[in-house]
Amino acid sequence: MLPGKNSEERKPVDEVEIKLNINGNVTQVKTEASTTLLYMLRDDLGLTGTKDGCSSGDCGACVVMVDNKPVNSCMMLAPQAEGTTVITVEGLEKDDELHPLQRAFGETWAFQCGFCTPGMLISCYALLETNDDPSREEILTAIAGNFCRCTGYQGVVNAVQRAAAELRTKNEDTEKTDV
Ligand code: FES
Ligand code: FES
Repeated sequence: MLPGKNSEERKPVDEVEIKLNINGNVTQVKTEASTTLLYMLRDDLGLTGTKDGCSSGDCGACVVMVDNKPVNSCMMLAPQAEGTTVITVEGLEKDDELHPLQRAFGETWAFQCGFCTPGMLISCYALLETNDDPSREEILTAIAGNFCRCTGYQGVVNAVQRAAAELRTKNEDTEKTDV
């Protein structure tokens, strides 16, 4: 049985205290040493946006940013996250405003049931952090580890390109104002 698959299957083991930055807040959390980052986020911190689709690193529903890289949180033990900076889907929204990617997903019908969406959003966010004008192929590569069983991927490609265009315009406007 995989550690930390769900709350009921978790057996009591040593408790550890972990300090990390989650969505901009330094957070201290007590959890079981064998818990995954995924279940520490969901069960101990109530950040249930991150989903468990397979518990085995195959579906991408649990992707979060750890120190600026997308990571399958079901494959990382919580103690390994000590001292890291984590961004979950809840951290994409800023000042009560959805991230352009989140809005674009809605505008382009990039989801139906939405189960894969949090992980998909984080993988796309990671892509846009390093590439402000990704091609269709680059987007498909970035989400190659994110499985969607009901919508398909074209809406996601459209959403990422729409959000990328919006972010480029925003950055250009900021540069002009700064001059
Ligand atoms: S739940 Fe982590 S990859 Fe599927
Ligand atoms: S929107 Fe349902 S699995 Fe992707």
